[in-house]
Amino acid sequence: MAVIGAVRVYRETHPRGASYDFRAGRPSFGDFPRAVWCRLLGRRARSASRRDLDYGPPEGRRELREALAERLRRIRGIETTPRQVVIVNGSQQALDLITRVLVDPGDRVLIEEPHYLGARQAFMAGGAELVPAPVDGEGMRVPRPLAGRRVPRLAYVTPSHQFPTGVVLPLARRLELLDWAVRSGAFVVEDDYDSEYRYAGRPLQALAGLDAHGRVIYVGTFSKLMFPALRLGYLVLPEALVDPVVAAKNLADTGSPSLEQLTLADFIRDGHLDRHLHRSIARNASRRAALLEAVRDRFGARAEISDTATGLHVLVWLRDHRGQPIASLARKAEAAGVAVYPVAPFYLHPPRRSGVLLGYGPLSEREIRDGVARLAAALD
Ligand SMILES: Cc1ncc(COP(=O)(O)O)c(C=O)c1O
Repeated sequence: MAVIGAVRVYRETHPRGASYDFRAGRPSFGDFPRAVWCRLLGRRARSASRRDLDYGPPEGRRELREALAERLRRIRGIETTPRQVVIVNGSQQALDLITRVLVDPGDRVLIEEPHYLGARQAFMAGGAELVPAPVDGEGMRVPRPLAGRRVPRLAYVTPSHQFPTGVVLPLARRLELLDWAVRSGAFVVEDDYDSEYRYAGRPLQALAGLDAHGRVIYVGTFSKLMFPALRLGYLVLPEALVDPVVAAKNLADTGSPSLEQLTLADFIRDGHLDRHLHRSIARNASRRAALLEAVRDRFGARAEISDTATGLHVLVWLRDHRGQPIASLARKAEAAGVAVYPVAPFYLHPPRRSGVLLGYGPLSEREIRDGVARLAAALD
């Protein structure tokens, strides 16, 4: 843990000795077509021109920005131009750059309650005053502007798979949020981290696709579709923010690595990403089904599952036999070799209930069933 200004920045720790690790937000590393990726990366490395080996443009390589603009139109209903797409080193850098460009110390930032810690910490490191907006069964409740209160500069949302509850923001709330942004002159940061893993029904159009007034900043990442070590993500920006954000990116690191960007552009253009996603959806659907079944079997009425057939984790609220919250839940689980992640740190004001995030991407169905059985035994 480091301290930036007054903000404690948590680093993920990896539990040693856990036989079953339900850490959220990890893709299946085994499902990724490594041989294809290695072939494309090798080809780009061998044929790299001088220009490819030189400093690249801070906004990212044109080949990748074009491939992404085309893909976003097709898959997320976002009409954009390659100019508005800026390549970054994962969503975390996107959140940091947005904060640098838009948030002055003391500015208010509306944030879902509960929310993604990486976003909270980026805004706090920029000196923001966080305004929590409670999440109910339909996602973030859009606030009414309060007379005499300073209007937030930004709102941060995960509308297509709320982190961590999993709720999907319905169309009416999306439109309400956009209307709020227009009326308040605020920007909305749409973090669309894992919603392409959709196991039932059609995905809702991204907020950015509904935005006619240039208020939405869309954040995408390849950490969930491919693998986190790639450290590639992107922003789709309203025209007015392109130049300031590219300048901030230039100052931060002068641009993301070119060879990986070019390889990713090939991977997308040649159809490998769509094929990989298609296969992964089928495999993750089986993992998710195994998890839900195991939780229902082992915990019965003591578990309440918050799940919407999207993403790579579910939130499960657990009670003991008397219907009370379970004390020291993560510690008891860890002692039994199972790593689970309490939901409390994702709240500014944690609830009294015990909830855990169960990520299933990297686990086999058998590991999922065995891990949940052990967890239930440890908590009994
Ligand atoms: C809500 C949310 N946004 C973004 C990310 C991904 O961050 P990055 O692209 O920096 O790997 C995660 C990963 O866990 C996440 O849960």
